[in-house]
Amino acid sequence: MAAKKQSKVAKKLAAKKPLKVAKKKQVKVAKAETSQTVGGQYGYFDDANKEYVLRNPATPIKWCNYVGTLAFGGVVDTTGGTVLCKGDPALNRITKYISQMPNSDFKGSTTYIRIKEKDSVRVLSPFVVPTCTMWDKWECRIGLSYTKWVAEGFGLKVTVVVFVPAKSSTLIQDISIENISRKNMEIDVVPVYEFSHFDALKQLTNADWVPQTMTVEAHKEKSGHVILEQYAFMKKQYAVNYFTASLPADSFDGDRREFLGFNEITGWAAPATLYKGKLSNSTALRGDNIAAQMFKFKLAPKKVGRVATQLGQEKSIADAMPAIKKYRDLKNVDKAFADLASFWNNYLAALQIKTPDASFNSMVNVHNPRQCHTTKNWSRYLSLYQLGFGSDRGIGYRDSSQDLLGVMSHMPEEARVLAENLLSVQLEGGNAMHQYFPSTMEANEGDSREKEDRPKYYGDDHLWIVLTVASYLKETGNMEFLKKEIPFYNKKKELEAREKGSVLEHLKRSLAFSWNDRGAHGIPHLGFADWNDTVNLPTGSESLFNASLFAKALLEMIDICEAIEDRELAEQYKNWYEEIKAQVNKTAWDGEWYVRWFDEKGEPLGSSKNKYNKIDSLGQSWPVISGIAPEEYAKTALNSVNKLLNTKNGIKLSWPGYNGFDPHVGGVSTYPPGAKENGGIFLHANPWIMIAETIVGNGDRAFQYYSQINPAEKNNGKISEFESEPYCYPQNILGSEHKQFGLARNAWLSGTSSWTYQAATQYILGIKATFKGLSVNPCIPKAWKEFSLSRKFRDAVYEISVKNPNGLSKGVKSVTINGKAIEGNVLPILPGKKHIVEVVMG
Ligand code: GLC
Repeated sequence: MAAKKQSKVAKKLAAKKPLKVAKKKQVKVAKAETSQTVGGQYGYFDDANKEYVLRNPATPIKWCNYVGTLAFGGVVDTTGGTVLCKGDPALNRITKYISQMPNSDFKGSTTYIRIKEKDSVRVLSPFVVPTCTMWDKWECRIGLSYTKWVAEGFGLKVTVVVFVPAKSSTLIQDISIENISRKNMEIDVVPVYEFSHFDALKQLTNADWVPQTMTVEAHKEKSGHVILEQYAFMKKQYAVNYFTASLPADSFDGDRREFLGFNEITGWAAPATLYKGKLSNSTALRGDNIAAQMFKFKLAPKKVGRVATQLGQEKSIADAMPAIKKYRDLKNVDKAFADLASFWNNYLAALQIKTPDASFNSMVNVHNPRQCHTTKNWSRYLSLYQLGFGSDRGIGYRDSSQDLLGVMSHMPEEARVLAENLLSVQLEGGNAMHQYFPSTMEANEGDSREKEDRPKYYGDDHLWIVLTVASYLKETGNMEFLKKEIPFYNKKKELEAREKGSVLEHLKRSLAFSWNDRGAHGIPHLGFADWNDTVNLPTGSESLFNASLFAKALLEMIDICEAIEDRELAEQYKNWYEEIKAQVNKTAWDGEWYVRWFDEKGEPLGSSKNKYNKIDSLGQSWPVISGIAPEEYAKTALNSVNKLLNTKNGIKLSWPGYNGFDPHVGGVSTYPPGAKENGGIFLHANPWIMIAETIVGNGDRAFQYYSQINPAEKNNGKISEFESEPYCYPQNILGSEHKQFGLARNAWLSGTSSWTYQAATQYILGIKATFKGLSVNPCIPKAWKEFSLSRKFRDAVYEISVKNPNGLSKGVKSVTINGKAIEGNVLPILPGKKHIVEVVMG
């Protein structure tokens, strides 16, 4: 840029006009913020639209939403930042998002609105960030796979909707601006994305090679439309990112330094080009790659201008052209958005409930199944906490196996596809790799790689998949799946050369592994860790949790064997089950609760004898869930949980927390007492206690435990303490041993989602798929007089209403289907239409 021009821009910037406006508005917002945050409220639930409506942009921490799927999609935060990837966050990342930056910073994407006034310009952002624009009215609607911002002020109403059309590889940003002033307005709209190198970690660790490979080319079409093509040099022939729009562009930029101007010194808050009036039409042969385009509008009062942008990835621009053309037509954008809504309506229709508790209804009908869809897609791979860089994560074996249980009634066939991938990283010996990368299907051993003196496998991974497959079979009745041949994982062999086995064979090997891998007490070994990743006792230690999970997997397998009439196999598993049950009750009862581990010397952990970690929640829930705890032990253990682990913010995982590093146990003692697995409220373990309470018939307690962690409940007055999004479960809340008791972190990707959904639907409301039909066995608060629900099962829809005239928690007295009484409480598998079911508790 010529020096003269530059100084002119500098003068304009120095004229302070836009800054003055910002200051005045800032004061206004400070006031607005106080009034909106009274009672800790940042927004509200709009159940009719299935949205959470954020009114105050200054959330305590970053809040976000998910768009698209792992195939193409990512995270969109409430200030317009985007993490986008195709197929694999670590290996095919598209936008650059540094989540540790303050919320005020540009993070991967934004849109500028530039209003031309007499002798100056205003530069605004509908997302507030990065221009710090304070609108008269602002809201951010967090919807089902889309986010919609509506900002009003400065004579404009700006609406931006961001989403990924189903099965597409393009992110749409649909921008409308309405002139709500009384005068004609000239407005420029400038959306911008910043690219990451496809190898997301390299982008952060290598500032030599990465920038030399990054390229942006511009293709100007006769129509005036511009396609910016971006790629890392070695991907030129097979994976290019593109950015284009429904309107011809006035100008564009591909080079960040050109766009920001002044060698970037005024940054994203005030890009110099926007004060100049035109972008620089830069491309980039290296350096920091962006895609920005300027669209010009002249709007008379009440007129609306609209442009939809597309950020996608295809093999080549030629391959992208069909999609580009399709979404340049705004009718197709509208249709894609409507299709997304139909997808969700259909997905959610699998189960809809009506109970006396409004926030229970809101979570179970919308937000919880939605979160289950999210965890099913992203496992623990990509969030604002699990950042998807390098080989740290991937698709987790145990995590995804459990996530699938949460979507099974909604999308069983999609769940099956992912289950097949998981089975393909199970080893010939029966145990499983801990995680894999979806774009390469390469697997690794997770954190166990880091410790030389600890086992290289996890004692639980391979057992979860038995529960998953059983759940799929019960939901669909597709017993043929058991015969499907799937390879076992073997790093040293090409895929074709790997040993294959039927799904049934895979499950048999899972069980055989744990049966053969038992320690001194006859209890399965811990391996590097069990569900609790952070307790890494020395080799030879045993896990009582693994024993219970093994027992539960045996029960599921016995069900499967009976369904396929393999009595001999069922018999063998029954014997194993009885043996494990006897061993646990003989060796692990501590007096008031069950012990959780035996270390390599046979010493108990999770026992009243220990100084730290005297009692562990999983040690109590799982013996009940697996049916190995006799009734008296079950009740006593659950009462101990209530006494020693429960708090108003949820049930702690253990107590007391370690107070300093202890190499014998490892990871758990790296946290201060009350944080995460070290005595924190690790939410994932809460629904297991809820389930256990329903098994012993304690509906009031189960529901109390449900409500005390319901994030929607936090919206009313407790958000300043909780801090995390109220529309999804976080992974953890700081426990009562911590000074910040009640503070939540790690939203979205947590097994809490799947298990709380199961606890609510299959145990509290008590609707569960079985091989024989749909079992109805509620365990509800005594105060509920009735509830009703609609459940799709196999080909039919069951409209179930439950009456509770005697104020009970559990017990079914009578069931009628379409007016006819049936024996027992399992609704038979019926043909494809609506069936009216009336249940009376008693
Ligand atoms: C994290 C992990 C999960 C583990 C849990 C408890 O959520 O993703 O696999 O079970 O922590 O350690």
